[in-house]
Amino acid sequence: MTRYDAVEAASYRVAREIPVEALAPWRDAVEPYLRPDRVVLDLGAGTGLFVRAFAAWFPEVPVVAVEPSADMRAASGLPMLAGDACAVPLPDSSVDVVWMSTVIHHVRDLPAAGRELRRVLRPGGVVVLRSLFRERHGGIGLFRFFPEAVRGLPGFPTVREVAQGLGFAVERLEAVPQVTASSLADKASTVRQEADTLLRSLTVEEFEAGRERLRAAAAVESGPVVDHLDLLVLRTVGAV
Ligand SMILES: C[S@@+](CC[C@H](N)C(=O)[O-])C[C@H]1O[C@@H](n2cnc3c(N)ncnc32)[C@H](O)[C@@H]1O
Repeated sequence: MTRYDAVEAASYRVAREIPVEALAPWRDAVEPYLRPDRVVLDLGAGTGLFVRAFAAWFPEVPVVAVEPSADMRAASGLPMLAGDACAVPLPDSSVDVVWMSTVIHHVRDLPAAGRELRRVLRPGGVVVLRSLFRERHGGIGLFRFFPEAVRGLPGFPTVREVAQGLGFAVERLEAVPQVTASSLADKASTVRQEADTLLRSLTVEEFEAGRERLRAAAAVESGPVVDHLDLLVLRTVGAV
């Protein structure tokens, strides 16, 4: 598991959080799952971007946030439980939806995490992921400038195989757009190596070369930066 410290948590808010309005397509994408009678676990909730978004979009849906980093929990300013994907501090069969946004590339032991998610999910529950996969990274502008960062992503076939082996069926996989920044210049001014696990995996030289490419493009390209992350929905089938 990658640990975020206090500096990285503060950086994360500057470099990675995007306004709730820019996430509007994600509201529509997750709306079928976030119903008032369902309990949602935001696993790896970070600085609380989606805890806030869900509260604004679906005020009647109960959301429990779990986050391993004490500094991210503190930076969020929200009530969050300590825990991680392999150790969720909740009882068996206690949630209907596990939401994981840009978390699975941090999870070292996917089978152990999958078993833990099956434990806490009620029968028929879903894991809803907002994620990046190695073979499906074309919709992410970041990789245009930092192509080496792709190596930190999990492969979709691996995730699917692990999930199916634990009794999850793939219900949906589609790319969802979002406005990541108002312009490339804005992105160039906020990009931080320490704020992003995928960028932290680069050498200093790789990061600096990528930042130069980003700055050069920002000098000539205008308009909002639109990225596409994947929505992957896994539904539990059969007994645990
Ligand atoms: C890129 S941030 C995403 C935060 C938030 N979900 C969001 O979309 O803004 C990844 C988060 O996953 C957390 N994390 C790292 N390893 C984890 C694990 N094994 N289980 C759960 N969360 C983990 C990190 O501490 C960090 O807060």
